[in-house]
Amino acid sequence: MQINVLTLFPDMFTPLQTSMLGRGLEDNKWQLNLVNFRDFTADVHHHVDDAPYGGGAGMVLQIMPIKRALDSLKNKGKVIITAPQGKIFNQQVAQNWAREENLTFICGHYEGFDQRVYDMADEVVSIGDYVLTGGELPTMSMIDATIRLLPGILGNAASPIDESFSHGLLEYPQYTRPENFEGMKVPAVLTSGNHQKIAEWRHKEALKVTYLKRPDLLEKYVMTTAEKKMLSE
Ligand code: ADE
Repeated sequence: MQINVLTLFPDMFTPLQTSMLGRGLEDNKWQLNLVNFRDFTADVHHHVDDAPYGGGAGMVLQIMPIKRALDSLKNKGKVIITAPQGKIFNQQVAQNWAREENLTFICGHYEGFDQRVYDMADEVVSIGDYVLTGGELPTMSMIDATIRLLPGILGNAASPIDESFSHGLLEYPQYTRPENFEGMKVPAVLTSGNHQKIAEWRHKEALKVTYLKRPDLLEKYVMTTAEKKMLSE
């Protein structure tokens, strides 16, 4: 997958070039194309923004350099703008995007875009109901959540399947050695060697932790008869 990012601050994107995602870049499992849309301005001062028509405080990012930067791309794929007014990003969106060949993110900074920039986007997406100074951090979060789902990015191929949100539930608790740390013990079922019982326990715990911490997720979760029976035992 190739990801294009239109930004005024390409240097902010080093975290994506580190650790597992960085190794994925080196192994050509995905590509990151950072484009500074200031390079597409026509004036000597390289302005990317201007005062809003109709007056008012602040500046507005202009359509021209962004449209020219978009037109310079060979493979745009889905065009995404990160902004607080977008729909909220979640694991389902990451899973859908992970199936795309190309994605292009447009990051604003400090100020909003000319409405015609939003109109060019396929999706406007937010990471939550709070406002950041720019779209770079949200874009990095979304790229991370998407790229880690691609084959060969995570060390353990099975890990994105069992994690939080992948089945609409939070993840069950995990334990590792020692079995007893200062009296804090690992649940006995996990050391029993009974795989059927372990799977049941994990599923029950996932339902429990979701009910206790994120009951809103259960509103969308359709429980099977077997799950209802398991919970009543
Ligand atoms: N840019 C500024 N705040 C944002 C948010 N909450 N989500 C996505 N992009 C943003």
